[in-house]
Amino acid sequence: MGSLGAVPDAANRERAGERAEQLRDAIARHDERYYAHDDPEISDAEYDELVRELLAIEEAFPDLAVAGSPSSRVGAAPSATFAPVVHRVPMTSLDNAMDAGELAAWGERVAKGLGGAAARFTCEPKIDGLAVSLRYERGELVQAATRGDGRTGEDVTANVRTIAAVPRRIAVPDGSPTPDVLEVRGEVFMPIASFERLRAAKVRENEERAAAGRKPEPLPVNPRNAGAGSLRQKDPRVTASRDLSFWAYQLGEVVGAPAFPSHDESLRWLASLGFPVNPEVRVVGSMDDVAAYCRHWEPRRHELGYEIDGVVVKVDDLAQRAALGFTSRAPRWAIAVKFAPEERNTVLRAIEVSIGRTGRATPYAVLEPVFVGGSTVSMATLHNREQVAAKDVRPGDTVVVRKAGDVIPEVVGPVLSLRPEGLPAWEFPAACPCDLRTPLVQAEGEADTRCVEPQCPFQRDQRIIHFASRGAMDIEGLGEKTVFALSDAGFVVDPGDLYSLTAGQLLQLEGFAEISAQNLVASIGRSRERPLAKLLVALGIKHLGPSASEALASEFGSLKAIVDAPAERLAEVEGVGEVIAASVTRWFESPANRTFVDKLRLAGVRLDVVERSTLEQTLAGRTIVVTGTVPGWSREGAEAAVKQRGGKATGSVSAKTDALVVGEAPGASKVTKAAELGVRVVPGEQFEDLLAGRIL
Ligand code: IVH
Repeated sequence: MGSLGAVPDAANRERAGERAEQLRDAIARHDERYYAHDDPEISDAEYDELVRELLAIEEAFPDLAVAGSPSSRVGAAPSATFAPVVHRVPMTSLDNAMDAGELAAWGERVAKGLGGAAARFTCEPKIDGLAVSLRYERGELVQAATRGDGRTGEDVTANVRTIAAVPRRIAVPDGSPTPDVLEVRGEVFMPIASFERLRAAKVRENEERAAAGRKPEPLPVNPRNAGAGSLRQKDPRVTASRDLSFWAYQLGEVVGAPAFPSHDESLRWLASLGFPVNPEVRVVGSMDDVAAYCRHWEPRRHELGYEIDGVVVKVDDLAQRAALGFTSRAPRWAIAVKFAPEERNTVLRAIEVSIGRTGRATPYAVLEPVFVGGSTVSMATLHNREQVAAKDVRPGDTVVVRKAGDVIPEVVGPVLSLRPEGLPAWEFPAACPCDLRTPLVQAEGEADTRCVEPQCPFQRDQRIIHFASRGAMDIEGLGEKTVFALSDAGFVVDPGDLYSLTAGQLLQLEGFAEISAQNLVASIGRSRERPLAKLLVALGIKHLGPSASEALASEFGSLKAIVDAPAERLAEVEGVGEVIAASVTRWFESPANRTFVDKLRLAGVRLDVVERSTLEQTLAGRTIVVTGTVPGWSREGAEAAVKQRGGKATGSVSAKTDALVVGEAPGASKVTKAAELGVRVVPGEQFEDLLAGRIL
């Protein structure tokens, strides 16, 4: 994206003119794909960037602005499938604020526009759906229309009538008159749960298609597109099957209804008439509070059951709104504060497979690096063979990449309209990518494809990385890169070799100096004293996770006692069970594994360290869930404290939960669940009372 100098000289002007032309063409093309076909090629954020660049040019060179420029238009002309509807009150778009600075600048413009008078603001989640206008005449829903280009939309009445959240008749409270005309504006959207059901159903359909030798159909990529596509169906029965929903957020044309002094009051009135109004709407008294509302929701956007892409801020007082008025594109009294985008398009350069410590071959996407969801993403897992086939992503495709909050990045699917002609489908490699080139096998009925060669150097490296990891032997300073270097140099073949490493050897590796080499040797040495439970995790026995390891360690006290115990005895331990017990027994039966354990023992690794809690077992038999931050405690620390007192610390609230400890910034879903199930809720400040046994 070319940036233009601030000084508008002739050469700049010419370049700007050409660029504006290009941008207008591109915007028109993307409008068409987005509004008329519900199949955008670029993400909303990328589209916004194009529009903003065009606006910047038109601002610097006002004579370059042409009538009907996309910068002054909203959306696209309606398609031929639906009858046109002319909006009596135009459905304008909103200006965007991309960061706190732009939001503050809007606040200043509003203050100036109001001659310095104080204002109150309504803050609303910005629903990422499809704007519609609902027209009620004498209480009856007579027409529903999309926004279209802001002046003319599409008649989607039959489809909107299938949405349960949209009242067909207004429920006027006793005694109040039914308005002659009431136009309610709001957003039709697909709740995330509905989207996931739809996507899962499509995946199943594709499996059936594949079995019948038919081509898969593209999967829905996100709730917005799926929602828009569902609303704009020729057959309302299809819309009805998609579980769409609706939030009302604005009045349009109104005849024969009370006049309201504020937006907030109009929303309350709408709610009283039976319209769904978002419960997170707040009225605040200052721009600082507006900014705080935005800061609150950006990290919590995933706690809602629907997608939001920002916050809409509106001047609440309707007389003040009238005084502020509109620009050619949008009201001056409202602004859309956009969150950082969580979806971007990028090019899939290649699909490669990585080999895990158990030999599992996991395909992953190598991407043209793209900034999304707050970080640069250049790789994303594709899970397994079936996932690649289901998504039908091919090297060379433009793909949608999504990174939501802390969630690991995901390739959602290809943008089929941008697929180069004749692009071949990807084939799972036949051999392990390591030098041994062992054939990869997929066992009957298993989702995973594996390298079954235990000597595979990739598996070996991964076993060492796992051994040294935080939840296992916790060897500080032994990261992936060092393991690869040690393995390349031939210094370590299995984790047991770590204990004979010398600082002199480490100094031969790139990036090590005297101090760092000695530090690593020391932290390897310290790991000899790790508790038995952690050592069990480090061994990497199939199915044996941290909590079963903990249970075995505290029950048996030493590795020898575990090895000597028959499988039935292991299975009796609470939290172990038959599958884990059988796997543990089988692991210790292997001569290679026994030799490995001997090697660790001879290297001085302790096989019998068990930390016994000397604390009173005040929470014995109790299951506790901690959500949010308990003042003075880290999450791990709080959970460990529960365990040290005999309690179980779990991650989700169920009927078995004895108490939910609610710290700062708790997960809303956990609190709701606890309320539903009648689980006792303990405020974070009382956590220590809980530990002391004074609450349960
Ligand atoms: S008010 C003149 N409120 O965002 C005011 N819009 O970027 C009209 N949207 O066209 C819109 N949530 O499709 C408003 N709480 C909300 C909204 C909202 C989502 C959408 C709507 C609008 C677009 C503007």
